[in-house]
Amino acid sequence: MASGVRGSWGTRMGFLIAAVGSAVGLGNIWKFPYITGVYGGGAFVLAYLFCILLVGLPILMAELTLGARSKRNSVGAFITLDEKRGKKSPWQLGGWLGVISGFFIMAFYSVTAGWSTAYIAKAISGFSGTAAEIKAEFDKIQNTPSISILWHTLFMGLTIAIVIRGVKQGIEKWSRILMPILGIILTGLCVYGLFFTSGGMKALAFLFKPDFSKLTSEGVLSAMGHSFFTLSLGMGTMITYGSYLKQEVNYFQTSLTIAFFDTAIALAAGLAIFSLVFTYNLEVSGGPGLIFTTLPVLFKQTGMLVALPFFLLLTFAALTSAISILEVVVAYFIDEKGWSRVKATLGVGGLIYLAGILCTINDFTFHFQGKERNFYDLFDFVTTNYMLPIGGLIVSLFVGWVLKDRFSEDSEVGILLHKIMRIILKFVTPILVIIIILHGLKIL
Ligand code: PHE
Repeated sequence: MASGVRGSWGTRMGFLIAAVGSAVGLGNIWKFPYITGVYGGGAFVLAYLFCILLVGLPILMAELTLGARSKRNSVGAFITLDEKRGKKSPWQLGGWLGVISGFFIMAFYSVTAGWSTAYIAKAISGFSGTAAEIKAEFDKIQNTPSISILWHTLFMGLTIAIVIRGVKQGIEKWSRILMPILGIILTGLCVYGLFFTSGGMKALAFLFKPDFSKLTSEGVLSAMGHSFFTLSLGMGTMITYGSYLKQEVNYFQTSLTIAFFDTAIALAAGLAIFSLVFTYNLEVSGGPGLIFTTLPVLFKQTGMLVALPFFLLLTFAALTSAISILEVVVAYFIDEKGWSRVKATLGVGGLIYLAGILCTINDFTFHFQGKERNFYDLFDFVTTNYMLPIGGLIVSLFVGWVLKDRFSEDSEVGILLHKIMRIILKFVTPILVIIIILHGLKIL
């Protein structure tokens, strides 16, 4: 495929910002705090950090390498780099899984981001009422499909509008604008929570003092699943973003930078939110509604000045991630099916939009793995905890065993580091992923 059709990043810095923009999203600000609350705090955080280091970082490096070396989408990358088998390569399953995961993730992601967009409007009109009333208000949005659909439509429309403009003019340009604003607002909120509220120290202890008796096997599975979700791994996002690089980069350094910002932002968001939870004696295990029901209690006092930037931040962070999810599926249709960007973006975006509508129907539930789950929960649970880790497992094995010399060929990182990374990709990451999945399924 001619490179002119595919598009590429304007600068390396632009690529880095877009990649950090993909990683930093609802996963950091909405999901990390709420699952940390649900799974008991410090011990979960430790399991998560362990997974970022031993599973996330190596796979991030592997995905970027796959993309940059092949200059293809997540399916095409395996076909191109498996030189012996080409189109018959069984490894392309990893790419396929990614395209399918992208479809389902984008559906519930857009609905959640829609709630965040709704809260921008609420921030402007001002929060009021008791903590219980604020919670009831969120429950109403969550339980009224027509409201969720309205905001989902708006968010999905924004995502499509950016992706349709292409890699440089759309994704890169908007990430450059939105990401720095996000960094500034979050730093402010974190400093406020830590030093100016009475719950700051309790939040620190909750996040960093592990109590292993609270860690369950579902908690460990979720810690691993979340390390994939938050770094945008296991579904070909980093393969796709890597494929728009014009020259090679230092994969280790790049991956470390992305993982560092991603983790720092998640921890900062956790500190900011739990400081408030402890200050106002709110429920730590509030689930997906956590930030929508805790923060407004504070925002009632601070007013629009803090509330508006916060929900803008959350929506921006979600947007720079959502475009990267949609792009995986769009890139597949452009590269492999020869579709134009406009056709691919509108076609795929339209279908995902419909899947998102399913996620707004709250009271239709299935019994799955010990719990009643609606479409929203099901899409989230299955993609994050199973599909992304399996996608990542395939990437890890492929780069570790099949890509051999190509991986270390012309990198500056040093032979030793590459040897270590190769061993991790060949053995450590795959074994860890398999054990945790089996453990989560209660087979092990
Ligand atoms: N990493 C994003 C977040 O933390 C979500 C995402 C998942 C993006 C998978 C791309 C692929 O919100």
